[in-house]
Amino acid sequence: MTLEEYHRLTPLPHPQGVVYVKPGARGYPDPVYDLLARAVEPFGRRALDLNPGVGWGSLPLEGRMEVERLETSKAALLALKKSGLKARRALPWEAEEEAYDLALLALPAGRGSRYTHLSLLAAARALRMGGRLYLAGDKNKGFERYFKEAQALLGYGLLLKREGPVRVALLEKEKKAPPLGEVWSVFTEGVQGTAFRFHHLPGVFSAGHLDPATLLLLESLEEVRGLEVLDLGAGYGGLTLPLAHRGARVAAVEDDWASLLSLQRSLEENGLVAEVFHSDVDEGLPKEARYDIVVTNPPFHVGGSVLLDVAQAFVHAAHARLRPGGRFYLVANPFLKYEPLLEALFGHWEVLRQDRYKVLFAVRR
Ligand SMILES: C[S@@+](CC[C@H](N)C(=O)[O-])C[C@H]1O[C@@H](n2cnc3c(N)ncnc32)[C@H](O)[C@@H]1O
Repeated sequence: MTLEEYHRLTPLPHPQGVVYVKPGARGYPDPVYDLLARAVEPFGRRALDLNPGVGWGSLPLEGRMEVERLETSKAALLALKKSGLKARRALPWEAEEEAYDLALLALPAGRGSRYTHLSLLAAARALRMGGRLYLAGDKNKGFERYFKEAQALLGYGLLLKREGPVRVALLEKEKKAPPLGEVWSVFTEGVQGTAFRFHHLPGVFSAGHLDPATLLLLESLEEVRGLEVLDLGAGYGGLTLPLAHRGARVAAVEDDWASLLSLQRSLEENGLVAEVFHSDVDEGLPKEARYDIVVTNPPFHVGGSVLLDVAQAFVHAAHARLRPGGRFYLVANPFLKYEPLLEALFGHWEVLRQDRYKVLFAVRR
């Protein structure tokens, strides 16, 4: 898939209109969102979708209620915008309190139990008393446990639909929701003799400790002082902070809003500076921006399945954004085969390090 193909938004006909989808954006095709869409019925005036992805689950409510969507992924936000569906960039727990008649939550599989717990709490807090929550998920990804948790938070609930491992439940809010509490975490980690304090929200990659692959990539880099470095998929800044500390001028792109807020806070608290872009791969960067070095620890797990579309788009973007002579460093699991794509784009590649992870290196000709 080329970079142009990755960024293409594709229209899908749907009984309620047209929904646009794209690689890297959650929610289609997805049996959880599909069953949610087939279960949901209007109730009251205002609905809130707390994990909309491309908007498939709440689409049947469109035109029958006022539907608001809170989304964190830039890729999904681009698709929602193109479909003309009302959405804003926000975390689930930033929803207005006791303001909605109906809430929808496709359990955010793959974002961990803390993020999921806070999403359930957010739903409970956003609903008015007597309001309803549609909860959708997969029984192999903790649906039963989260359904019980939702019942403890809200009250009465029943299982509405099941199809294979996918479940949709409906709950009614019968009691006041507990307070949100602290959502931020912090940890300190030393990188080549310097201690950094990483602040992060729930649901980010490698919460609570630096990923060993990130550390391996940092050990593999040569001099970066004064150079312009692009960090693709920056997370809370496991690469960006040490690079900024070493004197690089870093541009960091990140699709996930929770990760991006974590990165901004970590930079501030460590007295470091980098340019930060909420961006689906490189679409948020200035068109002309080019770099001396590109680094990446690309994503490959989306909801438990290996998804290489985004990671491959990272490699294409690295090639497109490097100046001639610019250097590309990628760290990955040895079983992921980036080498053919590096060969095709850069004409060559090298393995710099091979441990539990491998660091691949290529120069832009
Ligand atoms: C394996 S993590 C690496 C994070 C960080 N660089 C580190 O080493 O700790 C990959 C990151 O890519 C981000 N990501 C996923 N899809 C993306 C996309 N389409 N555009 C930009 N970033 C994306 C994820 O949110 C995640 O933070």
